[in-house]
Amino acid sequence: MRKAILRTDKYFKIDKVDERLFGSFLEHMGRAVYEGVYQPGNKFADENGIRLDTAALVKEMGVTAVRYPGGNIVSAYNWEDGVGPKELRPVRLEAAWQNLEDNSFGTNEFMDWTKISNTTPMMAVNLGTRGVEDAMHLLEYCNFPGGTYYSDLRKKHGYEKPHNVKLWCLGNEMDGPWQIGHRNAHEYGTIAAQTAKVMKDIDPSIELAACGSAGLKLPTFGEWDATVANRCFRYIDYLSMHTYYNNRNFTLDDTRDFLGHALTFDSQIHSVIAACDYASAINKSPKRINLSIDEWNVVYRPHGKVPPDARWTKAPHQIEDVYNLEDALLVGTMFLTMLNHADRVKIGCLAQLVNVIAPIMTSDNAAWKQTIFYPFKHCSNYGRGTALYNVMECDKYDSKNHTDIPYLASSVIYNEEEDRLAIFVVNRDLDEDSNLEVDLRQFKDYKLDRHIILNHDDIKAVNTEENPDNVVEQIKNENSKFENGCLTSIIEKHSWNVIVLKK
Ligand code: AHR
Repeated sequence: MRKAILRTDKYFKIDKVDERLFGSFLEHMGRAVYEGVYQPGNKFADENGIRLDTAALVKEMGVTAVRYPGGNIVSAYNWEDGVGPKELRPVRLEAAWQNLEDNSFGTNEFMDWTKISNTTPMMAVNLGTRGVEDAMHLLEYCNFPGGTYYSDLRKKHGYEKPHNVKLWCLGNEMDGPWQIGHRNAHEYGTIAAQTAKVMKDIDPSIELAACGSAGLKLPTFGEWDATVANRCFRYIDYLSMHTYYNNRNFTLDDTRDFLGHALTFDSQIHSVIAACDYASAINKSPKRINLSIDEWNVVYRPHGKVPPDARWTKAPHQIEDVYNLEDALLVGTMFLTMLNHADRVKIGCLAQLVNVIAPIMTSDNAAWKQTIFYPFKHCSNYGRGTALYNVMECDKYDSKNHTDIPYLASSVIYNEEEDRLAIFVVNRDLDEDSNLEVDLRQFKDYKLDRHIILNHDDIKAVNTEENPDNVVEQIKNENSKFENGCLTSIIEKHSWNVIVLKK
């Protein structure tokens, strides 16, 4: 058994965790919307076609902000196609993913769904094939009370009160060569700044996220972020960051390496913060642009097009990755990394939410939880409060692409109002348990509430429709002891843990 010590202090605060860190993403792609959240006639659907079984799982997961309608699709999306009488809505070729889009679900259905699922909308505007004017109209439709063409059109469509969408994305992944209407940093920075200016003129209460680079591996990464942050500096609140990791190889050494990706994620976050702060420096301003990590997850299959026989069909099975325990461990460590950057990372959207690279899967007969559902749920349930600085003293290892990977990853969240302390720990060690000690004399009037764990003998274990409870959360209070202000815990090999203390 290895030994580890976690050091933390209730006065050493990183920042309050923004609740929108527990966000997700719903794109018109594959079976995410159709069959995922909306399926008229399905036995779990309400009279408007909303799948209530999915909505219940979204609530259980504790999802906050949901980004919509894309993703790559937003760059050719006509929002007007998805509002008004359904029989008049056009069927379109959705070119980004080569689906057939009948627009039977659109902006207003999404707003209805956010109420049922207890989430808040994060809308994206099309800066690929469209631009400033379209964004103005959509904002007017969503947020203006009435007496103008688009606000009255919303009323005519049955929505008397404005939707009051507070959070908006200025396009999607615009430096990705795959993006419809892909631009260079100067072109995008200019159109994003123009769009942002007028959107804030129309509704100064909104917050805006501009597109940072679509990924660390793109040649534009870094330079793009600095240019866009600088061009849009006056108008934006956030710069986006996107990250997907995969483990397409299957040896245990690949797993050890895969589990080290949180280190790369951490370094990417530092780089994007640096780009934002560079913009503050050259604008000689105390303003800080924060990060919206509005797409992050594990992805197995390449982001390719649909198989040829599924092209131009509605809701084909598309990147429906099945996640195992090691994926849940990486998702967990990525989450801990974001919590440890709570001062600058304010929004996080696990990509995506249902069926497409998702924690929730559906068939006509069921909805079930993938492994990655659990770390998300635990972070949302126990990760609200103030993130505390924490230092883990433990053994480290090297892998193919990383050096000095600590076996244990951690995050500590103190919720003063609820008198609750949550210690999150992932053990990346595939062979040995760890004995963890934490000096918590500052909390000695607290008691152990629960030690939650996600683990399985087989790190490749998955949940399926036939076996949905193969990898599930367990309460194992016997793994922790809290006496005289000292916490000692067994952190099992390859496990996700949440140790909750309460007064
Ligand atoms: O989440 C799937 C896709 O990944 C999104 O549409 C796009 O933004 C990213 O490349």
